[in-house]
Amino acid sequence: MAKTRLRCRECGTEAEPGFRYVCDECFGPLDVAYDIPRLTPDSFDGRDQTYWRYFELLPLESRSSIISIGAGMTPLVHAERLGRELGLDRVFIKNDSVNPSFSFKDRPAGVAVSKAGELGIREVGCASTGNLASATAAHAAKGGLPCHIYAPRDIETAKIAQALSYGADYVAVDGTYDDANRIAAREGDSRGYGIVNINMRSYYVEGSKTLAFEAAEQSGWRVPDHLVVPVGSGAMLNAICKGFEELESASLLRGVSDMHVTAAQPRGCAPVVDAFRGGGPVRPVERPDTVAKSLAIGDPGDGRYVLGRIKQYGGHADDATDREILDAILLLARTEGIFTEPAGGVSVAVLKKMAEQGIIKRDETVVCYVTGNGLKAVEPLMGLLPEPRIVGADRIRAVAR
Ligand SMILES: Cc1ncc(COP(=O)(O)O)c(C=O)c1O
Ligand SMILES: [Zn+2]
Repeated sequence: MAKTRLRCRECGTEAEPGFRYVCDECFGPLDVAYDIPRLTPDSFDGRDQTYWRYFELLPLESRSSIISIGAGMTPLVHAERLGRELGLDRVFIKNDSVNPSFSFKDRPAGVAVSKAGELGIREVGCASTGNLASATAAHAAKGGLPCHIYAPRDIETAKIAQALSYGADYVAVDGTYDDANRIAAREGDSRGYGIVNINMRSYYVEGSKTLAFEAAEQSGWRVPDHLVVPVGSGAMLNAICKGFEELESASLLRGVSDMHVTAAQPRGCAPVVDAFRGGGPVRPVERPDTVAKSLAIGDPGDGRYVLGRIKQYGGHADDATDREILDAILLLARTEGIFTEPAGGVSVAVLKKMAEQGIIKRDETVVCYVTGNGLKAVEPLMGLLPEPRIVGADRIRAVAR
């Protein structure tokens, strides 16, 4: 018997797992549902130091389908020096910038590419704001599958170079992420590609749950008081909540409903924050304009589910301007030695505001998700940093003597 089922998030109709992602009855998104086993902390003793250690709660039928580049089990750092600057004692940074392709996207991409292989799909791809491109291409390379990337043409140079280096076929779309997404959806349907974040989305989001599993395990199986999560499409935030809930069902955690979940977005593309403030539905942003290019998703697929999660978890939503994002990158770098791209700057900037506003109290535990590496997006920092001092080579010899 299959380990998983697909279940419609809207109407609850169930379907057999396969190459499908919308409900036949109502076109709602399909989520993976499990018969969750009872697990104990010892269940994980001696397992791989990758996110595949949570195999029971991931949607592959067979371990032999796993395509791994060693992602996951990234550090959960007690950020004492950052905390001191913010007036908080228990700030923890989940540093996902140190995954093999240098962002959290190794989690959803690795699960979706592995599942594509298990389902017999022969080519994969994605629509990307930059990081998913490399994560998908890297896993496709490891699995020996052709990979097709669709991304806006104005993303950071490092992200384009990285994805191309893994051997991907790369289509640079002269438009927004939403335009790239439409093209990817059409190509996926007509050519039978497994587009990880579109027609493989039900499996893809399962990978992001491991950001909850690891944070819980690394905290000694305790539930944090607050999570701060950067939001683009909203898939990750929703998946992290699902992850905590599954750990409670597996008897590994208690009190998940006491946790507070915050969505962090850049001001130049903040449709979820705007809806949270205005009390209405999520309205698409037509022309995102932000230094946080990885979060420039004007029409977030999971936006309304993020609003639902914020409500469910008595949470919050806030945004950060370009300047606040860049300052937060530098604050994190100089206090904790962690160098993040703007998406992580958005999380830290929003964390700082929440501390200032007293939304997070000094003794409360907060896990702040830092999801991408600073080396992927150095361009916007250059104008802000001091010039290095130039010293003539003869001077160095004189000093050395
Ligand atoms: C580094 C980084 N953080 C956060 C996100 C947002 O994830 P989601 O689109 O699942 O909300 C992205 C999306 O591309 C990303 O690249
Ligand atoms: Zn349905």
